[in-house]
Amino acid sequence: MELPFAEPYKIKVVEPLRRSSREEREKWIKEARYNLFNLRSEQVFIDLLTDSGTGAMSHHQWSEMMLGDESYAGSASYFKLKKVINELLGMPYFVPTHQGRAAENVLFSATIKEGDLVPGNSHFDTTKGHIEFRRATAVDCTIDEASETLLYHPFKGNIDLNKLEDVFRNNPREKIPMCIITVTCNTSGGQPVSMQNIREVSALCKKYGIPVIFDAARFAENAYFIKQREKEYANHSITDIVREMYDHVDAATMSSKKDAIVNIGGFVACRDKELFDKISMYCILYEGYLTYGGLAGRDLAAMAQGLTEGCRYDYLESRIGQVAYLGKLLKEYGIPCQEPTGGHAVFVDAGKVLPHIPREEYQAQTLAIELYLEGGVRGVEIGTLLADRDPKTRENRYPNLELVRLAVPRRVYTNNHMAFVAACLGNIFERRDKITKGFRITKEAPIMRHFTVELERK
Ligand code: F0G
Repeated sequence: MELPFAEPYKIKVVEPLRRSSREEREKWIKEARYNLFNLRSEQVFIDLLTDSGTGAMSHHQWSEMMLGDESYAGSASYFKLKKVINELLGMPYFVPTHQGRAAENVLFSATIKEGDLVPGNSHFDTTKGHIEFRRATAVDCTIDEASETLLYHPFKGNIDLNKLEDVFRNNPREKIPMCIITVTCNTSGGQPVSMQNIREVSALCKKYGIPVIFDAARFAENAYFIKQREKEYANHSITDIVREMYDHVDAATMSSKKDAIVNIGGFVACRDKELFDKISMYCILYEGYLTYGGLAGRDLAAMAQGLTEGCRYDYLESRIGQVAYLGKLLKEYGIPCQEPTGGHAVFVDAGKVLPHIPREEYQAQTLAIELYLEGGVRGVEIGTLLADRDPKTRENRYPNLELVRLAVPRRVYTNNHMAFVAACLGNIFERRDKITKGFRITKEAPIMRHFTVELERK
């Protein structure tokens, strides 16, 4: 008999979870103005709001926390991290930052100016926010297949080379400071980018003299998918694939809260000394001195260890396998999800679950609130609320998809938790025709409104 899969770790510390009644949840979500970000964590049973900074560190990482060197300059922990970034990613220069968006702030301050265009595959919201804040434009060049949730495509994070070349042809070179490849592509459903696509995008950018940057938050999960789905890489190690991915790019911004499995941290890595000198100034200005960049020495040490662990095959198999398990259960209940299941999350197609609710009433937010009411499960809306308003017209931007993302923290929940979440959605799916009303906005911020938006029932 073939032996079943089992997690390559055991659990040393547990954190009790509190269950609640539906009446309690009705009251709490109303008090939170129907914004799931406003809930207290004790009001949530299973928290799939994000996989960012919510992972469980290993005991090796915790021991690195104790070894952290808190020197202001030249910390030994900095050099530990430098060694891993040099050897694993092949990047000679880097500055630490306190998280991914801080890395974007540092890099973009040195490279993006008003009127620029930044093509890429569905930029993450903070990335887009940092681009638009500088009065530049993020141009989405993701392949069209990415917005057809039920269509199987192994690499729905891929960039459409024709769309990208159109941007290059129709605009002056000096207006395009970079092309960003997000690995995996969070916004299109945690979907990977193939090595072939990375290679081709990189070649096209080289032809036009445009730098290529990774938004690398989930680069190791991307490498796992390349190994699984791109035949010629089946026998390559994850670390070889990671190295080859990075060989095609000039720089990377990293949110270490994902694939480096730490609770806080990030960095910008690059090849070019001149770029490094430029970003160094912004790192010192916004984050801190070059050898700590807004972090404690212990955070740098845990990050170095986490980067290494995050690239282990056994770990990735278990992590991505758990997300796939949740996806499989949802499909068994008939719930339409982005196909195939992503690396860090399952994306439920709320537009298909609640098609009878008008988009102006926020279908995905309505489903996310139902899920909280049903079982105390917190997901997140990836739809019209997140897409925000057009910076010029101030009209709602309606994205291609209305999704509820169920992001699975790393090494935190068991498959029983996944089964619980799937059953909650199964119940909602059965009574979906009875959910007839969505929400209206009563208060919103001028940029990135989803974090603080306030809503009321229609
Ligand atoms: N890039 C990607 C692809 C991300 O998913 C995130 C964060 C960032 C950049 C920004 O990094 O949070 O460390 O500042 N994503 C989280 C999420 C918040 O829930 O998907 P950060």
